[in-house]
Amino acid sequence: MKIALFSAKRFDRLSFDAALPAYPGLSLTCLEPRLDAASAVLAAGFDAVCAFVNDDLGAPVLAQLQAQGVRLVLLRCAGFNQVDLKAAQALGLTVARVPEYSPHAVAEHTLALLLTLIRRTHRAHNRVREGNFELDGLLGFDLHGKTVGVIGTGRIGRCVVNIFQGLGCEVLVHDPVPHPEVTARYVPLDELLAASKVVMLQCPLNAATHHLINAERLARMPRGSVLVNTSRGAVVDTKAVIDALKSGHLGGLAIDVYEEEAALFFEDHSDEVLTDDVFARLLTFPNVLITAHQAFFTEEALAAIADVTLGNAAAFAAQGAPLHPVRGS
Ligand code: NAI
Repeated sequence: MKIALFSAKRFDRLSFDAALPAYPGLSLTCLEPRLDAASAVLAAGFDAVCAFVNDDLGAPVLAQLQAQGVRLVLLRCAGFNQVDLKAAQALGLTVARVPEYSPHAVAEHTLALLLTLIRRTHRAHNRVREGNFELDGLLGFDLHGKTVGVIGTGRIGRCVVNIFQGLGCEVLVHDPVPHPEVTARYVPLDELLAASKVVMLQCPLNAATHHLINAERLARMPRGSVLVNTSRGAVVDTKAVIDALKSGHLGGLAIDVYEEEAALFFEDHSDEVLTDDVFARLLTFPNVLITAHQAFFTEEALAAIADVTLGNAAAFAAQGAPLHPVRGS
């Protein structure tokens, strides 16, 4: 089976090259372009494409891939909101994903973002390097004893719950499908928002969670509370968040994902004029911390992503079905 891996970065080459010898029937070609209507032609002659979070897997691209002979779409990520699953099913394309590679990677990055934001370590680091040892402006707050809310108690959410219970927080959780192992208290969303000093999003992006955090729900959060999003950008209405930050109602925002990240993230734009005014406004706040979709980015996660992705391809080649199909495809 021949696989075309789109949006290939150096780290993809390294992790997939390391995993490939265990799968003798597979060959892999790394392609730098992001998968979209213009680049889909590069997949001609391949049996499968391997795509990442910001590749375009809408109906027109899927139709083009299928017409060129592609039968399998291998997502090297957990989320699958970028795929038009109805179109894939209609076209007879199988979609596979990596449901779990390291939930700890994302959960630990959630903690890293929150601690950096509320203890201002990024600002302190810059000050010390400049010879400024002033503490004004660096005041933080204890997490111990605080009530924090986790929205989504799947693989990542459960790790987050454990971490924050370990820190001595009162953890409230919300999920339409409660998990029996979670010892934190499940409460309705509005109750979680009203009670939490910190709200962390660990749910997938779908029709029900699009703009889950909007102006109305932000208003329910206590003044000065903090929002952390390491799930998907569009779970949050960014313009509403900006208004809440401007008014001072929202005390801080830490994000690893952004609604319009596809135009920005994973590339070096440092020599270009930033044309996204919403993102530009976010950058102006001293109490906003942004990383560019790196929560998954650990050695352990990359190795697991490569192995599970190639395992999906090998199973499809051998039995006609991947190990981890995406439902509906
Ligand atoms: P999972 O599928 O194990 O868990 C998701 C949980 O969210 C489930 O328990 C589900 O019932 C719950 N959920 C669904 N709708 C909800 C709603 N309306 N309100 C509250 N909870 C809801 O997924 P996992 O592995 O925990 O990942 C969660 C999300 O994190 C992924 O879908 C992906 O979007 C994001 N992610 C981000 C990464 C990053 O690098 N920033 C890396 C990996 C995942």
